Amino acid sequence: MTTARAARLLWVVPLLLAHLLAAAPAARAADEPAYVPTVLVTGANRGIGLEYIRQYGARGWNVIATARRPAEATELNALAAANPRITVEPLDVSNYDSIDALARKYAGKPVDVLVNNAGITGNARAQVLGKLNWPEFEQVLQTNVIGPLKMVEAFLPSIEASRQKKIVNVSSSEGSIGSVIQGRTYFYRASKSALNMEMKNLAAVLAPKGIAVAMINPGPVDTDMMAGMPKSALRTKEDSVADLIRITDRLTVGTTGVFWNWSGEQLPW
Ligand SMILES: NC(=O)c1ccc[n+]([C@@H]2O[C@H](COP(=O)([O-])OP(=O)(O)OC[C@H]3O[C@@H](n4cnc5c(N)ncnc54)[C@H](OP(=O)(O)O)[C@@H]3O)[C@@H](O)[C@H]2O)c1
Repeated sequence: MTTARAARLLWVVPLLLAHLLAAAPAARAADEPAYVPTVLVTGANRGIGLEYIRQYGARGWNVIATARRPAEATELNALAAANPRITVEPLDVSNYDSIDALARKYAGKPVDVLVNNAGITGNARAQVLGKLNWPEFEQVLQTNVIGPLKMVEAFLPSIEASRQKKIVNVSSSEGSIGSVIQGRTYFYRASKSALNMEMKNLAAVLAPKGIAVAMINPGPVDTDMMAGMPKSALRTKEDSVADLIRITDRLTVGTTGVFWNWSGEQLPW
């Protein structure tokens, strides 16, 4: 090698090294896997909950689909078999140990959207004045009110660890005190009003952490819960869940603590 060529190389080598080093972080960023958000849905084996799994699954999200009796959740298991991002987990929201066990399993893992969907109306005959059935009322409260609050407390670290940080509660217009014209279904109505109140509180407490909370009425939807109602009066699960997800997508800390109707308007408390 001539002296002139060796001198040229002395210049070129550091320049090449500098170029490679500058390019390296960009190359690492491009190699990083894209962030995939995670949704956790309670009561995911049928009705609105199952439709949530279909729609979030189709979006490519990680889906934690929970059910009281996963072994019997045939349709849900079929969805999970066809989509590796859907995981089916046992969860009874009326059982504290069941909630704690699932939260322990997902400790340290992000949950972007927690959907408190599981709910019961309680037997209508148990909600007639003079024949009020107190154990039935307790079960409605345990499922619709205590369960969702316990879910938030147990999964708070996972929600905080996520990017989207959203808590969505499938509420009901039956919980709107301002809309009451006739008296009916004391247990169910009281439970949804109480759900709204506890979640409104949470919205205020969690806003400084960047966590947004919504209560959403899905409208009258064609599920087992509405068996016996004329189909013409009911919305499809597909339309209803698309509305719920659209409201969820737009949810921010700036709009936290609102009681939404499926149509995007606000409902009276
Ligand atoms: N359908 C409507 O018109 C309507 C209107 C307003 C609000 N909502 C609300 O929407 C939500 C879903 O209702 P839906 O219409 O889909 O009712 P649904 O078809 O009766 O389904 C209810 C779901 O909740 C689950 N669930 C009940 N108790 C549970 C518990 N202790 N732990 C875990 N899961 C439990 C059920 O599981 P199992 O199969 O194990 O019982 C089922 O998956 C409810 O919160 C309801 O109040 C519905």
